[in-house]
Amino acid sequence: MPNIKKIYIYPFILTTILASYIITFSSCKQEQHLSIYDIQKQVIEDSAMVVTAHPLATKAGIEILKQGGNAIDAAIAVQFALTVVYPRAGNIGGGGFMIYRSKDNEVNTLDFREKAPLSASKNMYLDSLGNVIEGLSRNGHLAVGVPGVVDGMIKAHQKYGSIKDFGKLLEPAIRYAQEGIILSEGEAQHYNKYQEDFKKFNTQKNVFYSKKNKGQLFKQPELAATLIRIKEKGEAGFYEGTTADLLVAEMQRSNGIITHEDLKKYDAVWRTPLQEPYKNYTIISMPPPSSGGIALCQLLNIIEEFPLSEYQFHSKEHIHLFAEAERRVYADRATHLGDSDFWTVPKDSLLSDFYLDQRMQSFNPNKATPSDSIQAGNIVINESEETTHFSIVDVQGNAVSITTTLNSNYGSKVVVGGAGFFLNNEMDDFSAKPGVPNQFGLVGNEANAIAPEKRMLSSMTPTIILKDDQLFMVVGTPGGSTIITSVFQTFTNVAEFGMNLKDAVHSNRFHAQWLPDQIYIEEESSFSKELINELKQMGHQIETREPIGRVDAILVLPDGQLEGVADRRGEDHAEGY
Ligand code: GLY
Repeated sequence: MPNIKKIYIYPFILTTILASYIITFSSCKQEQHLSIYDIQKQVIEDSAMVVTAHPLATKAGIEILKQGGNAIDAAIAVQFALTVVYPRAGNIGGGGFMIYRSKDNEVNTLDFREKAPLSASKNMYLDSLGNVIEGLSRNGHLAVGVPGVVDGMIKAHQKYGSIKDFGKLLEPAIRYAQEGIILSEGEAQHYNKYQEDFKKFNTQKNVFYSKKNKGQLFKQPELAATLIRIKEKGEAGFYEGTTADLLVAEMQRSNGIITHEDLKKYDAVWRTPLQEPYKNYTIISMPPPSSGGIALCQLLNIIEEFPLSEYQFHSKEHIHLFAEAERRVYADRATHLGDSDFWTVPKDSLLSDFYLDQRMQSFNPNKATPSDSIQAGNIVINESEETTHFSIVDVQGNAVSITTTLNSNYGSKVVVGGAGFFLNNEMDDFSAKPGVPNQFGLVGNEANAIAPEKRMLSSMTPTIILKDDQLFMVVGTPGGSTIITSVFQTFTNVAEFGMNLKDAVHSNRFHAQWLPDQIYIEEESSFSKELINELKQMGHQIETREPIGRVDAILVLPDGQLEGVADRRGEDHAEGY
């Protein structure tokens, strides 16, 4: 009798070993290229979870949680750590939004968005002929809004922090800045890509100025000193004293307009969260000055009437419906949304069933509605995509969802001389020339016009979602105007298409936003040629583009465990215990 084991089983075992070796080896190679860190894209744990754009920021949050801190304490540690390890978007020179839900269902939102300086004016980016001066609101000192992060973190700590000593929460960040961090290949490349801009827009040499290499130890002593001032003096360590003097001096060495008075007057604001139902879910998200919450809830309200779960994922019905809803919602954003401290935002109307039914009257299931036939106001969808998001759940079940930004990569590119941190270019999120098309063919509106102390409109959509009144999902992403649609897709991928969180986050995305009249799909896409042709035949214009968003999310599984997922599109890292 032939030896069955030898003929069938040994070759099978050998093939399996070889296959798993190839899979392991090739995935290692991919990870190695991405990062030197041991990155976790999906983890399932019992008690607590932190998901951020950088492994060391995630570890800062875990460190604080393990010292007995709650989700707010961990979020503060993450925010400061990101300033050091992810300075392209993590920041103390910018702003952001926080959604908080306590284990006892207290919900709150904190607006620490930047503000226009006191001497800002509506036409500050226009020349004598009334034309927009290219780049003025996007690069350099005049592009900078008054930073809100430090005040935001202090206010969050005062209200909800559990570790009494605020300074303790800065310790991981200070350590990273003092002792240095090892740069991954991606990080080194990113710094190198912007060398010319760093030189062009800075008045003094700084640590970002030189070419970087993978594996290099990168220390930031000036930033460490700034963080120590904040640790020791709180508000006064940033908005007054040495840091404020350095920031104002930096402004004065060029065409910046932020003064000591601007810094002293900055105030982060607790705002009433937007809470809207979707089937048996509750969406808790950010009200203005972000457009994110209202737009997300409008989109969900619109699709609720459609049998989405009967559609195939990424079918023409799915993409067409989403694009048509997005076209209308982004047109609304353009007309109606701005800083609610300065502009009356008709929130209730925008979210009413009646209004949204009316908006969809012109929906044709077989045909795209040209954007120029959609009545809408005029606003610039001009946010850059370099923002960052993190999601945290602590052992007690408190949840924090924060999206924070400098706007563009490294913001205005301006580093505060002697203080070692980048300043935002958030002024570009205003409409530079309301009511008239700007040089990029985009139009703006009064709702988002520049005014002293006004906050510029945002698309950031940090979100917490409840299912049957219990914590279900903590979610958000960077991505400028694509933030809203990425959060929308992540949630509907789970709630309507039955995906696990990993697939929901990692699957390819598409995006539409009224103007330009286009559906964008991710380049490395799974969208078939047939599907693209079908959509084109319906009248849609399709364009491929670079990756959309970097969603970092947490899902509470039916057995109460936490699933943390970090987007495959970056070096984002999930960790829990
Ligand atoms: N700067 C991006 C946003 O706020 O939407």
